[in-house]
Amino acid sequence: MSSVKAAITAVHGYVPPDLLTNHDLEKLVDTTDEWIRSRTGIECRHILKGEGLGTSDMAVEAVLGLLAKRSLGPLDIDLLICATVTPDHVFPATANIICDKLGAKNAWGFDLGAACSGFIYALSTAAQFIETGKYKRIVVVGADKMSSIIDYADRSTCVIFGDGAGAVLLEPSADGTGILDFILKSDGHGRVYLHQKAGGSVLPASHDTVDKRLHYVFQDGQPVFKAAVVGMADVSAEIMEKNKLGPDDIAYLVPHQANLRIIDATARRMGVGPEKVMVNIQRYGNTTAGTIPLCLWDWEKKLNKGDNLILSAFGGGFTWGAVYVKWAYEPN
Ligand code: UT7
Repeated sequence: MSSVKAAITAVHGYVPPDLLTNHDLEKLVDTTDEWIRSRTGIECRHILKGEGLGTSDMAVEAVLGLLAKRSLGPLDIDLLICATVTPDHVFPATANIICDKLGAKNAWGFDLGAACSGFIYALSTAAQFIETGKYKRIVVVGADKMSSIIDYADRSTCVIFGDGAGAVLLEPSADGTGILDFILKSDGHGRVYLHQKAGGSVLPASHDTVDKRLHYVFQDGQPVFKAAVVGMADVSAEIMEKNKLGPDDIAYLVPHQANLRIIDATARRMGVGPEKVMVNIQRYGNTTAGTIPLCLWDWEKKLNKGDNLILSAFGGGFTWGAVYVKWAYEPN
């Protein structure tokens, strides 16, 4: 095993300025602020508005902030991985577009699609390139413009999702900090409960698919909820056990922000109190690949070198997993 680990050496995020509150949604669909808060924990989401703006534009803002924090330029990036389910286009990869917009001419990049687990999948993948010594600076960005695939006439999905992007920089570390372990899982059986029906090769876009509103997120909430509660809690407990970590050893649980009830169940299973759980779902909703780096961004000033973090996610696919990170730097 390599003694070199991949450490997160900077984090930054971006959410667009326009807000969509629960009260705004009360005017669009048959719902109430009370229902949304009590069933999900969400109060507000940010929505990217403006013609011609896509996921890459939010990602670029997050990456620019990241580079500024480390006094680096776009030419310093070796590789950029973009986790997203809302790419700017079916092809080319949004990572390529982000690199072009940044002027990251020395970097290559690719997109990774694992829905709400996209960020932890991408982080674990990127870490391998650092541990092998192949690259020195990798950007992992989780970004989704969920508003581009949400049906604002469907109350069961439109209340949940928001837009946003978060990015981290990975660099080699030899002082015991960094990404120390990960457990990733997937089960394609779960695809029937959460997917986008049209626009792929099985059902290409046509007048009919548009008329039938098949280009939006379809979710059967209950089965996803049940699988998420078990999957996220189990894998978080599993990574703690594997690394001989007790609740007192954990500084923070960094959970995917899908539903406050799923987050609470995961924290209970890990035995960690609410003061150790990063929760910002009330302000952003579920930004899919963006949730975990947006949490790290919001909590960055509270994190100390050596803090043990458990990043945990569950999403469409099904995909799920947990990452054990030892934080690498003191707050600035
Ligand atoms: O991040 C990717 C992974 N995704 C998730 O982890 C999401 C997992 N699922 C969930 O978070 C929850 O299932 C939801 C928040 C989507 C739904 O909450 P729920 O407690 O599971 O509600 P439900 O689907 O069982 O619906 C309960 C009732 C239904 O009415 P009836 O049949 O009991 O009369 C729904 O029609 O609530 C109704 N309902 C709503 N009512 C007001 C559904 N959406 C709404 C709404 N406002 N927005």
